[in-house]
Amino acid sequence: MSTRTTSAPAIEAEHLVKRFGDFTAVDDISFTVPTGSVLGLLGPNGSGKTTTIRMMTTLSPPTSGTARVAGHDVVSEPALVRKKMGLTAQSATVDELLTGRENLRLIGDLYGLPKKAVKARADELLEKFSLTEAAIRVAKSYSGGMRRRLDLAASLVAAPPVLFLDEPTTGLDPRSRNELWDVLRGLVRDGTTLLLTTQYLDEADQLADRVIVIDHGRVIAEGTPLQLKDRSGAASLVITVSRPEDVDEAARVLTTRIADFHVDRDARRLTAPSEGVSALAGIAAAFTEAGIELDDIGLQRPSLDDVFLSLTGRKAEDPRLESAGEGAADREDAGTRTAEPETARSETAGLGTTDQEHRV
Ligand SMILES: Nc1ncnc2c1ncn2[C@@H]1O[C@H](COP(=O)(O)OP(=O)(O)OP(=O)(O)O)[C@@H](O)[C@H]1O
Ligand SMILES: [Mg+2]
Repeated sequence: MSTRTTSAPAIEAEHLVKRFGDFTAVDDISFTVPTGSVLGLLGPNGSGKTTTIRMMTTLSPPTSGTARVAGHDVVSEPALVRKKMGLTAQSATVDELLTGRENLRLIGDLYGLPKKAVKARADELLEKFSLTEAAIRVAKSYSGGMRRRLDLAASLVAAPPVLFLDEPTTGLDPRSRNELWDVLRGLVRDGTTLLLTTQYLDEADQLADRVIVIDHGRVIAEGTPLQLKDRSGAASLVITVSRPEDVDEAARVLTTRIADFHVDRDARRLTAPSEGVSALAGIAAAFTEAGIELDDIGLQRPSLDDVFLSLTGRKAEDPRLESAGEGAADREDAGTRTAEPETARSETAGLGTTDQEHRV
């Protein structure tokens, strides 16, 4: 997304490990996020995304390994880390009984910002997140999308340079997702460094400069979205003929050039392993010569979904996942949070999210 990165990483994790008893939730994860860039942490339910975020945001001490945010160690300098970061946790953290505006002002007050500045900042954020009209309503009455926007606004009150977002758009409808993506892109344009977790492969594709794919607490792949797509195999050549009666003739023409391909008669579509862009021109010419009209001919890159499938042998939303500590409300660190102002506030275990929305 952005190319405006400096050399100093805004976020660094080195060999992070988190164990809950015998269970290793995060198993030796390392990454760096250059200032002004976006890292997507992509993984299915229970893969260790939230646990990683909790360690990075000082809510949960690592079993081993180190992490720094804006150059500050999360274990030895937690207060400095919190000053530099905002967190939008996986589940809503706003106070249901307060209005949108009161929620934002409360956080500003907790930060000890001057009253006047707090008022201005709250209104600015309400405007930015299209919540001005709803500002006087209690958060309880908000729709899921509005609530998510309020969550995000809450994490921005102190204008932190580093932002952690745990599944920012889970449960939102496509329009709300797009709106939120736009807001996030704007933040990045303004220089914010983002680490976001997601189960949505297209979300990583849309927002992240780099993606780390985790499964069972381990990094199984990393790179730019493009590199990951390239890794999962070649693109396919997809040809759609205009007239249904041409499908057989098209198949005959293609046989002379490609040994193995798939014909979908209903869709008037022929799909073959890609022979590269140079072959494409020759194939297109052969169809023209045979008088076969095409609706479309082109190379189709694998989606990040295909990538996940090829890496793990299952789809990202496949429910066949062990989640040992499911429902573990008694988080080991529940009592360690301080009264210090922090946007990194309590969240529920947040496990086993099964939203019904499609995952592209
Ligand atoms: N406090 C805890 N005690 C025991 N096990 C835990 C605890 N917190 C998390 N776990 C386990 O660690 C694993 C990783 O959980 P985590 O919440 O990090 O996954 P996630 O990738 O965020 O999943 P989701 O997509 O469902 O939010 C899961 O198996 C979970 O049950
Ligand atoms: Mg989670």
